[in-house]
Amino acid sequence: MTQLLATRWHSFTSLQSINQAAIERILQAATEAINKEGSFIIVLAGGSTPKSIYEMLAKADADWGKWHIYYNDDRCLPVDHPERNSKMARDVWLSKVEIPSSQIHDIPTELGPVEGAKAYAKTLAGLRAFDLVLLGVGEDGHTASLFPNQVVDNSADVVPVFDAPKPPAERVTMSQNRLNLTYEAMFLVTGAGKQEAVDNWRNGVAIPAALITPKNGVDVYCFGVELK
Ligand code: 6PG
Repeated sequence: MTQLLATRWHSFTSLQSINQAAIERILQAATEAINKEGSFIIVLAGGSTPKSIYEMLAKADADWGKWHIYYNDDRCLPVDHPERNSKMARDVWLSKVEIPSSQIHDIPTELGPVEGAKAYAKTLAGLRAFDLVLLGVGEDGHTASLFPNQVVDNSADVVPVFDAPKPPAERVTMSQNRLNLTYEAMFLVTGAGKQEAVDNWRNGVAIPAALITPKNGVDVYCFGVELK
């Protein structure tokens, strides 16, 4: 029950309303962090769900010079491969706003899972807690590239993945422990395909998404899934 209490469920009746709510919270979180810390450290989700939100952010007015962009995972593909999470975010949003390129930290997955993870761990070394982590959920309950029944070295901030069931098999992902080091975590869950994962999550099944337990809990923004 503790886990459910620390998990706040937000149900929306349209893609427009979930996206609007998400972008308002993201921009508010940025203002709060910049007022408090002088910077906003956000960790982006991959996959397709966040794309429309990133497109909206491209049109938003924000103190972009103080934003610092990280990724919770990426696929081991060439830098400009269309399936790279960093390419999607750059194409629809980051190339259109004035965030200094030195503040956009792609995971160098083109180096392969082991070298990519090592390099990104160095990038994260000494970084304060994140302000906001955006996450998706897969139909099997995975989040980032943390998949069911896979052993993760949670003593590390960043880990290689060699056999992801969602192609491509090779990825780099932040560990649960590092993702938990955040002031706020927002899951974006849309589409009937995620119903089973949400049901399992709400019934206390330890899907990887449910293992993301930052001290302030998590907010799960849902559209197209029933909260039974
Ligand atoms: C990835 C993502 C992954 C994604 C979920 C949901 O690299 O694939 O990090 O965790 O967020 O699989 O993907 P969709 O948003 O496409 O449903």
